[in-house]
Amino acid sequence: GQSEACILVIFGATGDLARRKLYSALYALYRDGMLSANFAVVGVARREKTADGFRRDIFQSLQQYSRYKPSEDQTWPDFAGRFYYLPFDLRDRSGYVRLKELLAELDERYAVPGNRLFYLAVAPGNFEAAINNLAVAGLAVNEPPAWQRLMLEKPFGRDLASAEALNRQIRKLFAEEHIFRIDHYLGKEMIQNITVLRLANTFFEPVWNRNYINNIQINSVETVGVGERGAYYEKAGALRDMIQNHMLQLLTLMAMEPPAGLEGRVVRDEKVKVLRSLQPLTAERVIKDTVRGQYGPGCINGESAAGYRAEAGVASASNTETFAAMKVFIENFRWAGVPFYLRTGKRLAVKGTEIFIQFNSLPEINYFKDYGVLTPNLLVIRVNPVEGVHLQLNVKRPGTKNLIVPITMDFCQNCGLDINSPEAYERLLFDAIQGDPALFTGWEEVALAWRFVDPVAEVWAQSDVLFPNYAAGSWGPAQAADLLLRDGLRWWPVC
Ligand code: BG6
Repeated sequence: GQSEACILVIFGATGDLARRKLYSALYALYRDGMLSANFAVVGVARREKTADGFRRDIFQSLQQYSRYKPSEDQTWPDFAGRFYYLPFDLRDRSGYVRLKELLAELDERYAVPGNRLFYLAVAPGNFEAAINNLAVAGLAVNEPPAWQRLMLEKPFGRDLASAEALNRQIRKLFAEEHIFRIDHYLGKEMIQNITVLRLANTFFEPVWNRNYINNIQINSVETVGVGERGAYYEKAGALRDMIQNHMLQLLTLMAMEPPAGLEGRVVRDEKVKVLRSLQPLTAERVIKDTVRGQYGPGCINGESAAGYRAEAGVASASNTETFAAMKVFIENFRWAGVPFYLRTGKRLAVKGTEIFIQFNSLPEINYFKDYGVLTPNLLVIRVNPVEGVHLQLNVKRPGTKNLIVPITMDFCQNCGLDINSPEAYERLLFDAIQGDPALFTGWEEVALAWRFVDPVAEVWAQSDVLFPNYAAGSWGPAQAADLLLRDGLRWWPVC
């Protein structure tokens, strides 16, 4: 069905995220007939701009990033006409007074019954000011049936203490049910598929535990550098930018117990239990079981790439990590003793998010001893850019007497020419408008993830490593390979 009537207010309307993702997502929802006719968008940013100028910029963004092209679309004027623009600084209270007036006007024009979704696509340092000012202007009042919701980009805080402070502040003004904390990985098709793969297949459900699984490798590697986000990234690093949120979310979905139902809150409870069961990383284990890296100059796809320290907004002697890998254990009966290896980094050889489930090897019985080395069975969940599932099995090579070779069975969900999976933000924006929290991060998850990550950040902050320690276009620092070699394992190749 179509979305509820509402007005979406995007703070940070000229920013990178809005231009690359949000407008495309809204446009796709519109073109797919998912948006209510009672819908409008107000963009807020500092830059002076007219509504027409704003609409022209959106047109450009869509031509570049959207899977639908406005130049080929007769309904474009109707879509564009729904976008309004207000230039003001988030810290300037008078801006919110004008916003309130505009919203009242748009409520009438589009027959919206006072529903608003405030999307903070701005640097996290601005969250508090924006939220407080919304409240001062009387824009945070929830009087059912109308609703006022808040959608927040990550990162939520930079450690547990700051996240708690931010949360307290927000919760004074918005109830938890009106707060939608984004982890855009949860909006990805294949990530929603993890639970289905696990629980709708007899092949997998019974073996999803320490008796059959040897290790799980969660990779989210990128070829891009920090681009224009140097200033933000300097304060984050790979640990806060990727591990605290996306990677731990993937881990919880892989590891959680089958929930009692598939409603958001029920699933969240199970994810929270996984986070509670994470074995804390002591200082000693941080040194032994984590690896960080920073890229130096190198070469990607035949083009030379600068080192991190030469990027805009980055200190010339920066100690920020652009790569992080670690070995993690979950202390419960399902997973005791099974290592989960996480790896993420920028300016690596390939772009891809893939999860490898390596099954235990069978006992070596004499009769295969001359057949070559058996390769472990693997289930690979491909999240992006390829979406699919890949199985690695052993078979006898035809024509040979005694050679066993690994073969693969592949399912690719987005390889067909006319198949275009919806982008994560389409689903997330739609769900937030509908008030469905299932694919958003609850406060407890955020807090527990920080509790796990904080000790790593602390140990890392206290000791220097010699950066840069990997070349752009490589697979990261050599120690990352050692992390698995030591355990008699290897990282499976992400493709
Ligand atoms: C974001 C991080 O959350 O995720 C970025 O801040 C990262 O640094 C991005 O590049 C990766 O997302 P995706 O969807 O391209 O895998």
